[in-house]
Amino acid sequence: MAEELIVRGDSKREKYLMLLPQIKALVEGKKDVIANMVNIVAALKQTFHFFWVDFYQVKENVLVLGPFQGPVACTRIQYGKGVCGTAWKEKQAVLVPDVNQFPGHIACNSASKSEIVLPVMIEGVVVTILDINSDEFDSFDATDVIYLKKICTMLARTY
Ligand code: SME
Repeated sequence: MAEELIVRGDSKREKYLMLLPQIKALVEGKKDVIANMVNIVAALKQTFHFFWVDFYQVKENVLVLGPFQGPVACTRIQYGKGVCGTAWKEKQAVLVPDVNQFPGHIACNSASKSEIVLPVMIEGVVVTILDINSDEFDSFDATDVIYLKKICTMLARTY
């Protein structure tokens, strides 16, 4: 497959529909999970121009900063803390339309306004968190949840 990403389409859904098979081709059967995270982060950033896209990996019972694109970020997040720690604890996607309204939100950068976090799970165990921040309020919705979940599943298969 050509390594150049081609994503056209006006709506968010159209973009995801074009992006997903390309991410699948990039990561499927490639067993280096870090390389796969790096490409997923790059593809999401390039397609949607999100302020921040990052993976946090569970290491010795704490989330540790992994591959990301955007400004420098918090290195470690405890279980149950912030949006990321909450998604880890609840084992489900957390959508935050306004980070100021989320109790315990960890502000790594004051420009972040809304956020979505999804767990990457293997046999029901959270191994990694996908975290995306926007510098606009209310950037994420059910469409992001649907397609980002599929991306998380693709990544999980490459562990
Ligand atoms: N806002 C996150 C912290 C990580 S940064 O957004 C990169 C949280 O509350 O968990």
